[in-house]
Amino acid sequence: MPLMNWDQTLDIGVASMNKEHREILDAMNRIFDADAAGQSGPAVDQLVAKLGEVTTRHFADEEAYMAKVGYPGLGSHKLIHVKLLQDFGTHAAAIKAAGGKANPEFFNFLKRWLIAHIKGIDSKYAAHAKAAA
Ligand SMILES: [Fe+2]
Ligand SMILES: [Fe+2]
Repeated sequence: MPLMNWDQTLDIGVASMNKEHREILDAMNRIFDADAAGQSGPAVDQLVAKLGEVTTRHFADEEAYMAKVGYPGLGSHKLIHVKLLQDFGTHAAAIKAAGGKANPEFFNFLKRWLIAHIKGIDSKYAAHAKAAA
């Protein structure tokens, strides 16, 4: 069972960003499944690092998209991305320090990210883009 399945509620209505959000969700689910299967060690650290890469790329793409559509909330959204990456880095370091063993706090963090950030915060620039189109 994955951390979360892709569903309509994660669809923000921007195809390119939906695609990247799916990649993020897939990367999260790979970590969740590995942990559920009892895995730990460098393989898990690598999956966590992969999520970090996909996310860093996505945030850059998303910020470029928000700039393109003239989204007025770009500045504060960027700051939220910075904080999210900082928190992610803290979790990644804790997992590494635990020998590549993930923990429930990390998965709660990922769930909040999907629900509060993608559904809550990302959907706002999408609504702006739709209204401006
Ligand atoms: Fe996003
Ligand atoms: Fe975002």
